[in-house]
Amino acid sequence: MAREASWSDGPDGARRRTPPDAPHGPVVALYDKCVATLPSVPGVRPVHDDHVRAIMPYLEAVTARDLALEVPDEAKTPPSTSTSRLDRAGLRGGGGGGGGGDGDFFRRGERERVGERERERSSPSSSPEPGARRGLEYLHLHEDLAFTLGVFKFLAAGDAIPTHDHPGMTVMSKILYGAVHVKSYDWVVAPEDEGKPPPPVPVGTPRLARVVRDGVVAAGTTPLALFPTRGGNVHGFTAITPTAMLDVQAPPYALGAGRDCHYFHEVSEGPGGEPAGAGYAWLAAAPSQPESFRIDHGTYRGPKFGSNATEGGYYTYEGGHMMH
Ligand SMILES: [Fe+2]
Repeated sequence: MAREASWSDGPDGARRRTPPDAPHGPVVALYDKCVATLPSVPGVRPVHDDHVRAIMPYLEAVTARDLALEVPDEAKTPPSTSTSRLDRAGLRGGGGGGGGGDGDFFRRGERERVGERERERSSPSSSPEPGARRGLEYLHLHEDLAFTLGVFKFLAAGDAIPTHDHPGMTVMSKILYGAVHVKSYDWVVAPEDEGKPPPPVPVGTPRLARVVRDGVVAAGTTPLALFPTRGGNVHGFTAITPTAMLDVQAPPYALGAGRDCHYFHEVSEGPGGEPAGAGYAWLAAAPSQPESFRIDHGTYRGPKFGSNATEGGYYTYEGGHMMH
């Protein structure tokens, strides 16, 4: 295949350049770290927790300003940016002790999950000004076989991405500004199937999922990470204020290659009429993307690199465009 041939130039199958005199900045540093860290050919070597740990500080360092994003006034004081409640509750700060093998980032995520529930209760619901723009935009920063970098913009409070999955994918997300309600799930599987890719959910037959997260995540929160079978691989977002979220998706969605996106909604009962129980939910697959959901392409005005670089020969990706 011509597409594969174009990936044969670099040491790990891709041609990527990072000249020493190229412009640097946090988002370029993030891109470079992803290039250096993530497996370049999906499926040959899966994304590992260590890859995520290595990339997270670079993702956390990127700000809205670094991407030339204008922060809307409504997002400048989102309802849950104050950390004082978390500080008082002892939920923030400190490296924490104990072993367990997971890094600080993973333990912090657990603490913040508790904090989110508290913050959600204190979050006023807001609605957009009359006549305000609303809907979703995607700003494309980079895409290759190994990963995508992009920004999802929720233009107004109430804008939502319906519950969907990321089969076989690892996703890291940082809220650049604003706040969103996140509800995420992992599929419940038999112990012998732990860690294996779950089979697709047939339309019309709900599958049991464990609720991983149900709360508000705001700018200033440690970036989220989800994995193919844990961490909330199935999730939906509803904006509390205008919000921008920077995503690293590795590998990218790939229609027909086992990484298609599916959509779900909660139903009250399982196939035999059984309730889900506390902390669980029955999810039914939608036959297709909900008609009411669409994402427009927005204009990215930040530094160009990777597949988005058009001139200068720096940070160029020469493998072609995979999909949108
Ligand atoms: Fe997602």
